[in-house]
Amino acid sequence: MWSRKRIDIGWFDLAAGALACLHARRTHGQHCLERAWFPQGDGMACLSVRSGLDLLLEALQLEPGSQVLVSALTIPDMPRILQAHGLVPVPVDVQAETMAPSVEQVRAAITPHTRAILVAHLFGGRCNLEPLIELAQAHGLAVWEDCAQAFDGHYRGHAEADVSFFSFGPIKTATALGGAMVRVQNAALLKAMRRIQSTWPIQSRWAFFCRVMKYACLKALSQRVAFAVFIRLLRWARVDHDRLLNRAVRGFAGPDFFARIRRQPSAPLLALLARRIRHFSHELLARRTNLGRMLLQEISPAAACPGSAQPEHSFWVFPVLCEEPQRLIDRLWKAGFDATQGESMRVVAVPQDSPAPEPRVAQRLLEGMVYLPCYAEMTEKAVQRMAAVLRAELGQRPQTLLSAPGTVGRIRRGLAAIRLRRAIKRAKAKAT
Ligand SMILES: Cc1ncc(COP(=O)(O)O)c(C=O)c1O
Repeated sequence: MWSRKRIDIGWFDLAAGALACLHARRTHGQHCLERAWFPQGDGMACLSVRSGLDLLLEALQLEPGSQVLVSALTIPDMPRILQAHGLVPVPVDVQAETMAPSVEQVRAAITPHTRAILVAHLFGGRCNLEPLIELAQAHGLAVWEDCAQAFDGHYRGHAEADVSFFSFGPIKTATALGGAMVRVQNAALLKAMRRIQSTWPIQSRWAFFCRVMKYACLKALSQRVAFAVFIRLLRWARVDHDRLLNRAVRGFAGPDFFARIRRQPSAPLLALLARRIRHFSHELLARRTNLGRMLLQEISPAAACPGSAQPEHSFWVFPVLCEEPQRLIDRLWKAGFDATQGESMRVVAVPQDSPAPEPRVAQRLLEGMVYLPCYAEMTEKAVQRMAAVLRAELGQRPQTLLSAPGTVGRIRRGLAAIRLRRAIKRAKAKAT
Protein backbone atom coordinates (compact mmCIF):
# COMPACT_ATOMS: atom_id res chain seq x y z
CA MET A 1 0.00 0.00 0.00
CA TRP A 2 1.42 3.38 -1.05
CA SER A 3 0.68 5.88 1.72
CA ARG A 4 -0.74 9.29 0.80
CA LYS A 5 2.54 11.06 1.53
CA ARG A 6 5.99 10.41 2.95
CA ILE A 7 7.48 12.82 5.41
CA ASP A 8 10.26 14.50 3.45
CA ILE A 9 13.12 14.00 5.91
CA GLY A 10 15.90 11.41 6.15
CA TRP A 11 16.82 9.24 9.15
CA PHE A 12 20.12 11.09 9.54
CA ASP A 13 18.26 14.40 9.65
CA LEU A 14 15.97 13.03 12.35
CA ALA A 15 18.99 11.82 14.33
CA ALA A 16 20.65 15.22 13.89
CA GLY A 17 17.44 16.91 15.09
CA ALA A 18 17.31 14.70 18.19
CA LEU A 19 21.01 15.30 18.96
CA ALA A 20 20.63 19.04 18.46
CA CYS A 21 18.21 19.01 21.40
CA LEU A 22 21.30 18.38 23.56
CA HIS A 23 23.81 20.85 22.22
CA ALA A 24 22.43 23.46 19.76
CA ARG A 25 22.81 27.13 20.68
CA ARG A 26 19.96 29.49 19.82
CA THR A 27 21.42 32.89 19.01
CA HIS A 28 24.24 31.38 17.00
CA GLY A 29 21.81 29.09 15.10
CA GLN A 30 19.36 31.86 14.28
CA HIS A 31 22.15 34.14 13.11
CA CYS A 32 23.78 31.53 10.80
CA LEU A 33 20.45 30.41 9.38
CA GLU A 34 19.22 33.90 8.61
CA ARG A 35 22.57 34.90 7.10
CA ALA A 36 22.53 31.85 4.80
CA TRP A 37 18.94 32.36 3.64
CA PHE A 38 18.87 36.16 3.57
CA PRO A 39 22.41 37.36 2.73
CA GLN A 40 21.00 40.90 2.49
CA GLY A 41 19.57 40.66 5.99
CA ASP A 42 15.98 41.08 4.79
CA GLY A 43 14.27 38.26 6.65
CA MET A 44 13.89 36.21 9.80
CA ALA A 45 13.25 32.68 11.03
CA CYS A 46 10.01 31.98 12.92
CA LEU A 47 8.31 29.03 14.54
CA SER A 48 5.84 28.75 11.63
CA VAL A 49 4.27 30.77 8.82
CA ARG A 50 1.30 31.36 11.12
CA SER A 51 3.64 32.84 13.73
CA GLY A 52 5.21 34.99 11.00
CA LEU A 53 1.83 36.33 9.85
CA ASP A 54 0.89 37.07 13.44
CA LEU A 55 4.16 38.97 13.93
CA LEU A 56 3.62 40.94 10.74
CA LEU A 57 0.13 42.03 11.75
CA GLU A 58 1.22 42.85 15.29
CA ALA A 59 4.00 45.02 13.91
CA LEU A 60 1.83 46.72 11.28
CA GLN A 61 -1.07 47.65 13.58
CA LEU A 62 -3.47 48.21 10.66
CA GLU A 63 -6.66 50.05 11.44
CA PRO A 64 -9.38 47.63 12.67
CA GLY A 65 -11.85 46.85 9.88
CA SER A 66 -9.16 47.08 7.20
CA GLN A 67 -9.63 44.46 4.51
CA VAL A 68 -7.11 41.94 3.25
CA LEU A 69 -7.90 40.15 -0.02
CA VAL A 70 -6.95 36.48 0.34
CA SER A 71 -6.77 33.53 -2.04
CA ALA A 72 -10.14 31.85 -1.46
CA LEU A 73 -8.56 28.46 -0.80
CA THR A 74 -6.07 28.26 2.06
CA ILE A 75 -5.70 26.84 5.54
CA PRO A 76 -8.32 28.25 7.95
CA ASP A 77 -5.74 29.60 10.39
CA MET A 78 -4.60 32.30 7.97
CA PRO A 79 -7.96 34.18 7.90
CA ARG A 80 -8.33 33.37 11.59
CA ILE A 81 -5.11 35.24 12.39
CA LEU A 82 -6.20 38.20 10.26
CA GLN A 83 -9.49 38.33 12.16
CA ALA A 84 -7.73 38.16 15.51
CA HIS A 85 -6.00 41.40 14.56
CA GLY A 86 -9.32 43.10 13.79
CA LEU A 87 -8.91 42.72 10.01
CA VAL A 88 -11.45 41.46 7.52
CA PRO A 89 -10.30 38.67 5.19
CA VAL A 90 -12.13 38.96 1.86
CA PRO A 91 -11.86 35.87 -0.35
CA VAL A 92 -10.94 36.24 -3.99
CA ASP A 93 -11.80 33.19 -6.05
CA VAL A 94 -9.01 31.19 -7.63
CA GLN A 95 -8.63 30.03 -11.21
CA ALA A 96 -8.60 26.26 -11.19
CA GLU A 97 -5.79 25.94 -13.75
CA THR A 98 -3.26 28.05 -11.85
CA MET A 99 -4.84 28.36 -8.40
CA ALA A 100 -4.13 32.10 -8.62
CA PRO A 101 -6.75 34.76 -7.96
CA SER A 102 -7.64 36.42 -11.25
CA VAL A 103 -6.60 40.05 -11.72
CA GLU A 104 -10.15 41.03 -12.70
CA GLN A 105 -11.58 39.54 -9.51
CA VAL A 106 -8.93 41.19 -7.35
CA ARG A 107 -9.60 44.52 -9.05
CA ALA A 108 -13.35 44.14 -8.46
CA ALA A 109 -12.79 43.30 -4.78
CA ILE A 110 -10.64 46.36 -3.96
CA THR A 111 -12.43 48.91 -1.79
CA PRO A 112 -11.20 52.02 0.05
CA HIS A 113 -10.67 49.73 3.10
CA THR A 114 -8.38 47.25 1.33
CA ARG A 115 -4.79 47.30 2.59
CA ALA A 116 -3.15 44.13 1.31
CA ILE A 117 -3.40 41.01 -0.84
CA LEU A 118 -2.37 37.64 0.58
CA VAL A 119 -1.71 35.28 -2.33
CA ALA A 120 -1.12 31.57 -1.72
CA HIS A 121 0.95 29.52 -4.17
CA LEU A 122 -0.78 26.16 -3.92
CA PHE A 123 0.04 22.46 -4.37
CA GLY A 124 3.77 22.96 -5.00
CA GLY A 125 3.32 25.27 -7.96
CA ARG A 126 3.95 28.96 -8.25
CA CYS A 127 1.56 31.31 -9.94
CA ASN A 128 2.57 34.40 -11.87
CA LEU A 129 2.52 37.28 -9.39
CA GLU A 130 3.49 40.05 -11.83
CA PRO A 131 -0.01 41.20 -12.82
CA LEU A 132 -1.20 41.11 -9.19
CA ILE A 133 1.82 43.09 -8.02
CA GLU A 134 1.26 45.68 -10.74
CA LEU A 135 -2.37 46.04 -9.71
CA ALA A 136 -1.49 46.21 -6.01
CA GLN A 137 1.13 48.87 -6.61
CA ALA A 138 -1.36 50.95 -8.62
CA HIS A 139 -3.71 50.91 -5.60
CA GLY A 140 -1.05 51.29 -2.91
CA LEU A 141 -1.65 47.79 -1.50
CA ALA A 142 0.90 45.48 0.09
CA VAL A 143 1.47 42.04 -1.45
CA TRP A 144 2.04 39.18 0.97
CA GLU A 145 3.10 35.97 -0.70
CA ASP A 146 2.27 32.68 1.02
CA CYS A 147 4.86 30.19 -0.28
CA ALA A 148 4.12 27.61 2.47
CA GLN A 149 3.49 24.91 -0.16
CA ALA A 150 5.94 26.18 -2.74
CA PHE A 151 9.50 25.72 -1.46
CA ASP A 152 11.64 24.22 -4.24
CA GLY A 153 15.17 24.83 -2.98
CA HIS A 154 15.66 27.87 -5.24
CA TYR A 155 12.83 30.33 -4.87
CA ARG A 156 13.25 32.89 -2.10
CA GLY A 157 10.25 35.12 -2.80
CA HIS A 158 9.27 37.59 -5.50
CA ALA A 159 11.58 40.61 -5.53
CA GLU A 160 8.61 42.97 -5.38
CA ALA A 161 6.44 41.14 -2.86
CA ASP A 162 6.40 43.01 0.44
CA VAL A 163 6.51 39.82 2.48
CA SER A 164 7.14 36.17 1.45
CA PHE A 165 6.44 33.28 3.83
CA PHE A 166 8.05 29.81 3.51
CA SER A 167 7.05 26.90 5.73
CA PHE A 168 9.10 23.92 6.89
CA GLY A 169 6.25 22.26 8.79
CA PRO A 170 6.06 18.44 9.04
CA ILE A 171 4.50 17.61 5.68
CA LYS A 172 6.31 20.29 3.70
CA THR A 173 9.16 19.90 1.22
CA ALA A 174 12.52 19.53 3.07
CA THR A 175 10.72 19.65 6.40
CA ALA A 176 12.47 20.61 9.63
CA LEU A 177 9.33 19.46 11.53
CA GLY A 178 8.49 23.13 11.96
CA GLY A 179 9.91 26.54 11.34
CA ALA A 180 9.41 29.19 8.69
CA MET A 181 11.52 31.71 6.83
CA VAL A 182 9.92 35.10 6.28
CA ARG A 183 11.34 37.69 3.92
CA VAL A 184 10.31 41.27 4.66
CA GLN A 185 11.24 44.08 2.28
CA ASN A 186 10.77 46.94 4.70
CA ALA A 187 13.70 47.07 7.14
CA ALA A 188 11.80 49.00 9.81
CA LEU A 189 8.93 46.52 9.68
CA LEU A 190 11.36 43.60 9.94
CA LYS A 191 13.02 45.23 12.95
CA ALA A 192 9.64 45.62 14.65
CA MET A 193 8.78 41.97 13.96
CA ARG A 194 12.10 40.85 15.42
CA ARG A 195 11.52 42.96 18.50
CA ILE A 196 8.07 41.46 19.08
CA GLN A 197 9.33 37.92 18.51
CA SER A 198 12.10 38.47 21.08
CA THR A 199 9.41 39.00 23.75
CA TRP A 200 7.78 35.63 23.05
CA PRO A 201 8.63 32.49 25.05
CA ILE A 202 10.96 30.01 23.37
CA GLN A 203 9.74 26.61 22.18
CA SER A 204 11.16 24.07 24.63
CA ARG A 205 13.84 21.59 23.57
CA TRP A 206 11.76 18.83 25.08
CA ALA A 207 8.74 19.79 22.94
CA PHE A 208 10.95 19.67 19.87
CA PHE A 209 12.48 16.34 20.89
CA CYS A 210 8.96 14.86 21.25
CA ARG A 211 8.18 16.19 17.79
CA VAL A 212 11.22 14.45 16.34
CA MET A 213 10.15 11.16 17.96
CA LYS A 214 6.56 11.51 16.75
CA TYR A 215 7.55 12.11 13.14
CA ALA A 216 10.18 9.36 13.25
CA CYS A 217 7.32 6.98 14.11
CA LEU A 218 5.10 8.40 11.37
CA LYS A 219 7.95 8.11 8.86
CA ALA A 220 8.51 4.48 9.82
CA LEU A 221 4.79 3.78 9.51
CA SER A 222 4.57 5.30 6.05
CA GLN A 223 6.86 2.61 4.54
CA ARG A 224 4.80 0.32 2.29
CA VAL A 225 4.59 -2.86 4.37
CA ALA A 226 4.40 -1.09 7.73
CA PHE A 227 1.67 1.17 6.38
CA ALA A 228 -0.39 -1.76 5.08
CA VAL A 229 -0.16 -3.53 8.47
CA PHE A 230 -0.91 -0.32 10.40
CA ILE A 231 -3.96 0.43 8.29
CA ARG A 232 -5.28 -3.12 8.64
CA LEU A 233 -4.94 -2.85 12.41
CA LEU A 234 -6.78 0.48 12.43
CA ARG A 235 -9.57 -0.96 10.29
CA TRP A 236 -9.80 -3.96 12.58
CA ALA A 237 -10.12 -1.57 15.54
CA ARG A 238 -12.73 0.41 13.56
CA VAL A 239 -10.62 3.57 13.57
CA ASP A 240 -11.03 5.89 10.58
CA HIS A 241 -7.43 5.98 9.32
CA ASP A 242 -8.06 8.97 7.04
CA ARG A 243 -9.21 11.14 9.89
CA LEU A 244 -6.50 9.86 12.23
CA LEU A 245 -3.70 10.61 9.76
CA ASN A 246 -5.05 14.01 8.79
CA ARG A 247 -5.31 14.99 12.45
CA ALA A 248 -1.89 13.57 13.34
CA VAL A 249 -0.10 16.05 11.09
CA ARG A 250 -2.24 19.09 11.82
CA GLY A 251 -0.19 21.91 13.32
CA PHE A 252 -1.26 23.79 16.46
CA ALA A 253 -4.47 21.78 16.83
CA GLY A 254 -6.42 22.08 20.07
CA PRO A 255 -6.86 24.94 22.53
CA ASP A 256 -4.62 27.98 23.12
CA PHE A 257 -3.88 28.40 19.44
CA PHE A 258 -2.46 31.91 19.80
CA ALA A 259 -0.36 31.06 22.84
CA ARG A 260 1.15 28.19 20.84
CA ILE A 261 1.99 30.09 17.67
CA ARG A 262 3.45 32.97 19.69
CA ARG A 263 6.74 31.25 20.45
CA GLN A 264 10.27 31.63 19.22
CA PRO A 265 11.78 28.62 17.44
CA SER A 266 13.99 26.48 19.69
CA ALA A 267 17.73 26.02 19.10
CA PRO A 268 17.38 22.43 17.78
CA LEU A 269 14.63 23.48 15.38
CA LEU A 270 16.86 26.24 14.00
CA ALA A 271 19.78 23.82 13.72
CA LEU A 272 17.68 21.25 11.87
CA LEU A 273 16.23 23.91 9.59
CA ALA A 274 19.74 25.14 8.72
CA ARG A 275 20.78 21.57 7.97
CA ARG A 276 17.75 20.94 5.71
CA ILE A 277 18.41 24.09 3.71
CA ARG A 278 22.17 23.43 3.49
CA HIS A 279 21.69 19.86 2.27
CA PHE A 280 18.60 20.42 0.14
CA SER A 281 18.29 17.54 -2.35
CA HIS A 282 17.63 18.95 -5.79
CA GLU A 283 17.70 15.37 -7.14
CA LEU A 284 14.79 14.28 -4.95
CA LEU A 285 12.80 17.35 -5.90
CA ALA A 286 13.53 16.74 -9.60
CA ARG A 287 12.38 13.15 -9.21
CA ARG A 288 9.12 14.22 -7.56
CA THR A 289 8.59 16.81 -10.29
CA ASN A 290 9.22 14.27 -13.04
CA LEU A 291 6.86 11.74 -11.50
CA GLY A 292 4.22 14.46 -11.21
CA ARG A 293 4.67 15.40 -14.87
CA MET A 294 4.52 11.78 -15.90
CA LEU A 295 1.31 11.19 -13.94
CA LEU A 296 -0.22 14.32 -15.43
CA GLN A 297 0.61 13.14 -18.92
CA GLU A 298 -0.70 9.63 -18.24
CA ILE A 299 -4.08 10.77 -16.96
CA SER A 300 -4.72 13.72 -19.27
CA PRO A 301 -7.21 14.45 -20.65
CA ALA A 302 -9.32 11.95 -18.66
CA ALA A 303 -8.59 13.73 -15.36
CA ALA A 304 -8.63 17.40 -14.50
CA CYS A 305 -5.76 18.46 -12.23
CA PRO A 306 -6.18 21.78 -10.40
CA GLY A 307 -3.08 23.95 -10.49
CA SER A 308 -1.41 21.90 -13.22
CA ALA A 309 -1.00 24.94 -15.51
CA GLN A 310 1.17 26.83 -13.03
CA PRO A 311 4.34 27.99 -14.79
CA GLU A 312 6.58 26.48 -12.08
CA HIS A 313 5.46 23.23 -10.46
CA SER A 314 7.16 20.70 -8.22
CA PHE A 315 4.00 18.70 -7.33
CA TRP A 316 4.18 18.98 -3.56
CA VAL A 317 0.74 17.36 -3.71
CA PHE A 318 -1.13 16.01 -6.73
CA PRO A 319 -4.87 16.73 -6.71
CA VAL A 320 -7.41 15.50 -9.28
CA LEU A 321 -10.92 16.81 -9.53
CA CYS A 322 -13.80 14.35 -9.82
CA GLU A 323 -17.51 14.10 -9.28
CA GLU A 324 -17.42 11.29 -6.74
CA PRO A 325 -14.31 11.65 -4.58
CA GLN A 326 -15.16 8.83 -2.18
CA ARG A 327 -15.74 6.37 -5.01
CA LEU A 328 -12.37 7.25 -6.52
CA ILE A 329 -10.65 6.95 -3.13
CA ASP A 330 -12.22 3.49 -2.66
CA ARG A 331 -11.12 2.34 -6.12
CA LEU A 332 -7.57 3.55 -5.53
CA TRP A 333 -7.54 1.94 -2.11
CA LYS A 334 -8.44 -1.44 -3.59
CA ALA A 335 -5.55 -1.01 -6.04
CA GLY A 336 -3.07 -0.26 -3.20
CA PHE A 337 -3.03 3.56 -3.21
CA ASP A 338 -4.04 5.61 -0.18
CA ALA A 339 -5.62 8.77 -1.64
CA THR A 340 -7.41 11.34 0.48
CA GLN A 341 -9.55 14.45 0.30
CA GLY A 342 -7.43 16.01 3.03
CA GLU A 343 -8.77 18.20 5.80
CA SER A 344 -6.36 21.08 6.00
CA MET A 345 -7.70 23.49 3.36
CA ARG A 346 -10.89 25.55 3.61
CA VAL A 347 -12.73 28.07 1.51
CA VAL A 348 -12.47 31.52 3.10
CA ALA A 349 -15.95 32.71 4.07
CA VAL A 350 -17.31 35.89 2.53
CA PRO A 351 -17.67 38.45 5.37
CA GLN A 352 -21.19 39.26 6.51
CA ASP A 353 -22.83 42.16 4.64
CA SER A 354 -20.09 42.03 2.02
CA PRO A 355 -21.04 42.35 -1.65
CA ALA A 356 -18.06 40.11 -2.53
CA PRO A 357 -19.20 37.11 -4.64
CA GLU A 358 -19.06 33.56 -3.27
CA PRO A 359 -15.80 31.86 -4.36
CA ARG A 360 -17.55 29.15 -6.37
CA VAL A 361 -14.47 27.71 -8.04
CA ALA A 362 -12.74 27.23 -4.69
CA GLN A 363 -15.88 25.59 -3.29
CA ARG A 364 -16.17 23.20 -6.22
CA LEU A 365 -12.48 22.32 -5.93
CA LEU A 366 -12.69 21.63 -2.23
CA GLU A 367 -15.70 19.36 -2.69
CA GLY A 368 -14.29 17.40 -5.60
CA MET A 369 -10.53 17.18 -5.09
CA VAL A 370 -8.72 13.97 -4.25
CA TYR A 371 -4.99 14.06 -3.40
CA LEU A 372 -3.09 11.19 -4.96
CA PRO A 373 0.10 9.67 -3.57
CA CYS A 374 2.92 11.00 -5.76
CA TYR A 375 6.37 11.40 -4.22
CA ALA A 376 9.99 10.71 -4.97
CA GLU A 377 10.05 7.30 -3.26
CA MET A 378 7.38 5.91 -5.60
CA THR A 379 8.41 3.87 -8.62
CA GLU A 380 7.47 4.79 -12.19
CA LYS A 381 5.66 1.48 -12.43
CA ALA A 382 3.51 2.29 -9.39
CA VAL A 383 2.63 5.71 -10.81
CA GLN A 384 1.69 4.14 -14.15
CA ARG A 385 -0.47 1.57 -12.39
CA MET A 386 -2.22 4.32 -10.43
CA ALA A 387 -2.74 6.25 -13.69
CA ALA A 388 -4.40 3.18 -15.23
CA VAL A 389 -6.83 2.97 -12.28
CA LEU A 390 -7.62 6.66 -12.70
CA ARG A 391 -8.21 6.32 -16.44
CA ALA A 392 -10.50 3.37 -15.88
CA GLU A 393 -12.41 5.16 -13.16
CA LEU A 394 -12.65 8.60 -14.71
CA GLY A 395 -13.29 7.35 -18.23
CA GLN A 396 -11.78 8.55 -21.45
CA ARG A 397 -14.07 11.55 -21.80
CA PRO A 398 -11.84 14.66 -21.74
CA GLN A 399 -12.43 16.63 -18.55
CA THR A 400 -12.17 20.33 -18.16
CA LEU A 401 -11.35 21.71 -14.77
CA LEU A 402 -14.65 23.29 -14.04
CA SER A 403 -16.96 21.60 -16.40
CA ALA A 404 -20.56 21.49 -15.30
CA PRO A 405 -21.32 18.02 -13.96
CA GLY A 406 -22.21 15.53 -16.69
CA THR A 407 -25.69 14.01 -17.00
CA VAL A 408 -24.85 11.22 -14.56
CA GLY A 409 -23.42 13.74 -12.12
CA ARG A 410 -26.52 15.92 -12.40
CA ILE A 411 -28.82 12.94 -11.77
CA ARG A 412 -26.71 11.88 -8.75
CA ARG A 413 -26.77 15.38 -7.31
CA GLY A 414 -30.53 15.59 -7.91
CA LEU A 415 -31.05 12.30 -6.08
CA ALA A 416 -28.82 13.45 -3.23
CA ALA A 417 -30.85 16.65 -2.91
CA ILE A 418 -34.11 14.63 -2.81
CA ARG A 419 -32.64 12.34 -0.13
CA LEU A 420 -31.53 15.36 1.89
CA ARG A 421 -34.98 16.98 1.66
CA ARG A 422 -36.60 13.71 2.78
CA ALA A 423 -34.21 13.39 5.71
CA ILE A 424 -35.01 16.97 6.80
CA LYS A 425 -38.75 16.25 6.54
CA ARG A 426 -38.35 13.09 8.63
CA ALA A 427 -36.30 14.95 11.24
CA LYS A 428 -38.95 17.71 11.42
CA ALA A 429 -41.76 15.16 11.69
CA LYS A 430 -39.90 13.45 14.55
CA ALA A 431 -39.39 16.74 16.35
CA THR A 432 -43.11 17.64 16.28
C1 LIG B 1 -1.22 27.59 2.13
C2 LIG B 1 -0.65 27.51 3.50
N1 LIG B 1 -0.44 28.64 4.19
C3 LIG B 1 0.08 28.62 5.43
C4 LIG B 1 0.40 27.45 6.06
C5 LIG B 1 0.93 27.47 7.46
O1 LIG B 1 2.26 27.07 7.53
P1 LIG B 1 2.87 26.76 9.00
O2 LIG B 1 2.52 25.34 9.30
O3 LIG B 1 4.34 26.97 8.83
O4 LIG B 1 2.24 27.72 9.92
C6 LIG B 1 0.20 26.24 5.39
C7 LIG B 1 0.49 24.98 6.06
O5 LIG B 1 0.10 23.92 5.66
C8 LIG B 1 -0.34 26.27 4.08
O6 LIG B 1 -0.56 25.14 3.40
